Amino acid sequence: YSLQSLNTFGIAARARQFLRIEQLTQLQAIFADAQLKALPRLVLGGGSNLVLSDQVDALVLQMGLKGRQILDEDEDYVYVQAAAGENWHEFVLWTLEQGLGGMENLSLIPGTVGAAPIQNIGAYGMEIQDVFTGLTAFDFTSGELVDIDKATCAFAYRDSIFKREYKDRMVIVNVRFALPKRWQARLAYVDVAQYLRQHQIDSPTPKDISAAIIEIRQAKLPDPANIGNAGSFFKNPIVPAAQRDSLLAVYPTLVSYRQDSGDYKLAAGWLIDQCGWKGRQLGRAGVYEKQALVLVNHGGATGAEVRALAQAVSADVYARFAVKLEVEPVFF
Ligand code: EPU
Repeated sequence: YSLQSLNTFGIAARARQFLRIEQLTQLQAIFADAQLKALPRLVLGGGSNLVLSDQVDALVLQMGLKGRQILDEDEDYVYVQAAAGENWHEFVLWTLEQGLGGMENLSLIPGTVGAAPIQNIGAYGMEIQDVFTGLTAFDFTSGELVDIDKATCAFAYRDSIFKREYKDRMVIVNVRFALPKRWQARLAYVDVAQYLRQHQIDSPTPKDISAAIIEIRQAKLPDPANIGNAGSFFKNPIVPAAQRDSLLAVYPTLVSYRQDSGDYKLAAGWLIDQCGWKGRQLGRAGVYEKQALVLVNHGGATGAEVRALAQAVSADVYARFAVKLEVEPVFF
């Protein structure tokens, strides 16, 4: 089964077996089938944070569960839920249409609702963990649905328990959020504040911020419909203050952000850019010309070519800055 149109990198991978999940009973049926249950599994959402090998020796499950609703409200919050197969951005737009602010900074992030908690998606000064309350998952050890609360998810920068202990065990089916009734704009990110100033928007609504972020993202990030990619390919590395200070002494334009821990997050895009990789190509894979943190498929790139490029880029960054880059997407 060809997965080429189901991963945004556009890698021409083939799956050993493929099933689209539209009902929970299908997960129960897989659990009840000894042969299917024994296969390694790859759950596909939007396929937007994934680097596939050419042959995917697994049972690939494409998550197609749909539905979104307002669950409840109290004095402070409105509680909403969406099924794992809903498109993330459409869900964000739907909350805005309901008059609910809180997720606008996460506009236009590719992928599905079910994939969003796995890497704790984040952009423009917020992460999903800021509005997340819990989720329901199908547990492949018991064959039951389980509720998983926020603390159990162990969210961190681009990380959660679903990348670790729960990786092969849990299939996310529903995700729940609390959206604040006393909404406040999150404008810490300079690009957003600057956009609003330029457009003379003094007291932005959630929809204004969403529109700003859509435009900022479209200007910087490649659209997978035109050029294959998986968004940021590396995490922004976090280094001790002493290391950041000595780098800053040599490279005064270094971009870094102080963390609550006192450590600093460095802009990996800046590091890669400084090594001269922006816009360069290796085989059929390349570094995007407008944002060095994004690797792209110039057409026909294999998983191995993407990996080779990623290794060459991180080797150069390490040689120059002694900073190790960690990859962001999931490799399968
Ligand atoms: N920079 C360069 N050269 C480049 C790219 C970036 O000098 O080629 C500099 C920029 O000038 C800027 C800094 O690096 O000062 C940061 O760049 P940017 O604002 O584009 O954000 P980022 O740190 O590269 C992160 C997320 C993005 C998210 C943006 C906005 C990670 C790994 N990436 O990128 O997330 O949209 O911030 O919040 O944390 C993703 O995960 O797929 C993703 C796109």
